[in-house]
Amino acid sequence: MTQDELKALVGQAALKYVQAGGIIGVGTGSTVNKFIDALATMKDRIQGAVSSSTASTERLKALGIPVFDANEVDDLAVYIDGADEIDNRGYMIKGGGAALTREKIVAAQSQRFVCIADESKLVGVLGRFPLPVEVIPMAARRLMRQFAAMGGIAQLRMKDGQPLVTDNGQHILDVTGLTLSEPLRFENEVNQWPGVVTVGVFAHQKASVCLLGTAQGVRTMTF
Ligand code: A5P
Repeated sequence: MTQDELKALVGQAALKYVQAGGIIGVGTGSTVNKFIDALATMKDRIQGAVSSSTASTERLKALGIPVFDANEVDDLAVYIDGADEIDNRGYMIKGGGAALTREKIVAAQSQRFVCIADESKLVGVLGRFPLPVEVIPMAARRLMRQFAAMGGIAQLRMKDGQPLVTDNGQHILDVTGLTLSEPLRFENEVNQWPGVVTVGVFAHQKASVCLLGTAQGVRTMTF
């Protein structure tokens, strides 16, 4: 199976976590796009979604799925999103699509985080994928030095020759060279740095379940 087929497989499999009559937390990325397409087949049986990005909002609306503001709803039963890396404890790196802040907000609002990913995303230790960190632009250079002091190399994410601007009007640093063997401690520490909006380690908001697409089918990991 191709990677695209594996993404479609887990996107479809995630439907079983969608409760009839409910509002669903929806993440961002190419795997979630497969889930949104699958969700459209049962759109008459749900109230709608809370979305984690303008890209997902547009896709949901185009398929006729109502999108609610996060402030309009209380707890969500389930949040469905992809990951750039996930380990065997359910800790993740996210933010490859620059949507990490809203993803973390909607994940925090949800009782369960169902991660959907193809098997290439499963790692022993987080850190091979460059760690996205959303930052306030005026803090970017100082934060790059702080990451250098812990052995990382931080680069400002660019788009069309300009710093990429997130849905929240901020910038992204991508940090390589870190081994994240203690994700909770790392997230706690970097969250304290002035100018950090969101660090792309999802340890406090880790996955409850991962549906992993493999050549043998969907493997369900529970954490
Ligand atoms: C978006 O900001 C990310 O957190 C995505 O969830 C992550 O990059 C996974 O995306 P893909 O499903 O496209 O690999």
